Parts: sequence; structure tokens; C-alpha cells
Amino acid sequence: AIGFINGEWIPVDQAVLPIDERGHNFGDGVYEVIRVYQGAPFKMREHLVRLEKSAEAILLTMNYTIEELEALIAEGLAKTGLQEASVYLQVTRGIAKRVHLFPDVPASTTMTIREAADISDAVREKGVNVTLVDDERWKNCFIKSLNLLPNVVAKQKAKDAGYYEAVFVRDGVVLEGSSCNIFLVKDGVLITPPANRYILHGITRATLLDIAKEIGVSVEEKEFGTDLLLAADEAFMTSTSMEVMPVVEVDGKKIGNGKPGEISMKLLKNYRAKFQ
Ligand code: PDD
Repeated sequence: AIGFINGEWIPVDQAVLPIDERGHNFGDGVYEVIRVYQGAPFKMREHLVRLEKSAEAILLTMNYTIEELEALIAEGLAKTGLQEASVYLQVTRGIAKRVHLFPDVPASTTMTIREAADISDAVREKGVNVTLVDDERWKNCFIKSLNLLPNVVAKQKAKDAGYYEAVFVRDGVVLEGSSCNIFLVKDGVLITPPANRYILHGITRATLLDIAKEIGVSVEEKEFGTDLLLAADEAFMTSTSMEVMPVVEVDGKKIGNGKPGEISMKLLKNYRAKFQ
């Protein structure tokens, strides 16, 4: 593993951040997680474009261009020699005395590159259970903001209650997991919530939608309620780290036959074929 802070490569456990860093004082920043397969960062350009969009949405001017970040990620990967890795990239509004108004200092860019923590195939082949929770987040969930308090609390509460993931529901509408997007299959149609301000526009989500079209699965991006999720034939979640994770139970109710769905597994296979 290796760390990066504003131009310098360092050991990940080295103490480097001053107390007055807006990332930890205000959560005033944005981030990305990029998976590296066989030495190649997957969908890196898409992730960096989204990072720029997130930064723009919070009026933050980044201190590196997309091309520079691509070069830095390549440099860091070469230094670690890792083939299967996870890149965490964070940009904050910089280091300045704690005052709410924006400081006149450059953004602060940090990164870690670590060995990927893969989810075992046994978990994926069995599928996981989720619980529906009230979405207490703000209305700008398309921004990949550092403010993850509702997400981490929801995930922990779900785990403590015996669930793999918490799925946010706002006014009866199913949106996404605490760290992933959600899909269902009903009567052969793949359905996922639309990419509006209430969900993160997942890179894995977009890739899966492309794959579905490639292999002739019909797709609908539309709002749906908990009733449709509970009546689904299949369901799964997607993220950079989960890839495609079958959901076989929602709040104790079986989805379909209680096993990972056929279309879900086909989509996973095709997703993996993109980088294998
Ligand atoms: N999760 N929704 C939320 C709230 C997320 O935090 C994430 C990503 C996603 C999926 O986005 P993508 O497919 O681009 O990774 C959706 C982190 C980064 C993860 O678990 O990898």
C-alpha cells in the first residue's frame, strides 16, 4: 500500500494532515474509489470525470487535472507493484483555519492505493439480505461527498441487525444502498432508479446498463416503491467494490426463489468479462 498527499508519495500510516484540514473539519470535499484489475484501473476516466463533477457541484476547484490524476494513479500503482488494487482519491477545500467561508488556499488531494479486499465468491453465490431504511440524507446524493454520516450509521445499524446492507427509501421510493446502487428484475425487465439528484450515478450502474443493452436484456430506469422490490423476481446491488451482489432477501422476505437470479449472474459474468 502507498499514500499520496499533494505531490508526495508516503507510507499510508504516516501522520501528515494538519489539524486544520477542511476534509475532517467540515467534510468539505469529494472522493472516488477506483478498482484496479490486473494492473489496469477500471473505468478510471469515468471516475475522474465524476470527481470533477462532484467538485464543481460544491464549488471546489481541483488542484490536478484529470490527465495529471491518471498519471499519478499510474505512478502510484507502479510504485506498489499491485495488480489487484483499490484506489481511494480525495480532494478537499484545503488546509486553512476553521472558518466556514471558503479559504483562499489550493485544494488538497490525497490518495491511498491498497490491495483490493475482494468479496468471497461464496457470499456472492449465496446472495445477501438487506433492510429498508428511511433516507435521512440531503438532496444532493449525486455528489460523491465526504459527508457519509447517514451512510455509515445506516450500514452499521443494518449489520448489527444481521443485514448485509441498508437500502435507502425516501417517501416510499427505493433509491440506493448505503454504498451501492440497486437493481431489480421483474418479468425479464431490468429496472433501476433513475440517475437523479437522490442517488449517486454509479459507474458500475452505468456499465451494467450498457451490458444489459449489449446482451439484449430490456432496461427501464424508473422510480419504484418497496412493493415492486418485494415482488421482484431478482434483485442485486452494484458498486466498484461489490461489482454485482445478488440480493435474496429484503427485511426477511425472500426475493424470487431466494437464490441469486439468473439474469443477475449473467450480468455479473459479463461485467467481469470487461476486465478479464
Ligand atoms: N460506493 N451509491 C453510493 C451511495 C455509493 O457510495 C457508491 C459507491 C455507489 C456505487 O458507485 P460506483 O459504482 O461508481 O462505485 C452508489 C463506494 C465507492 C464503494 O463501495 O466502492
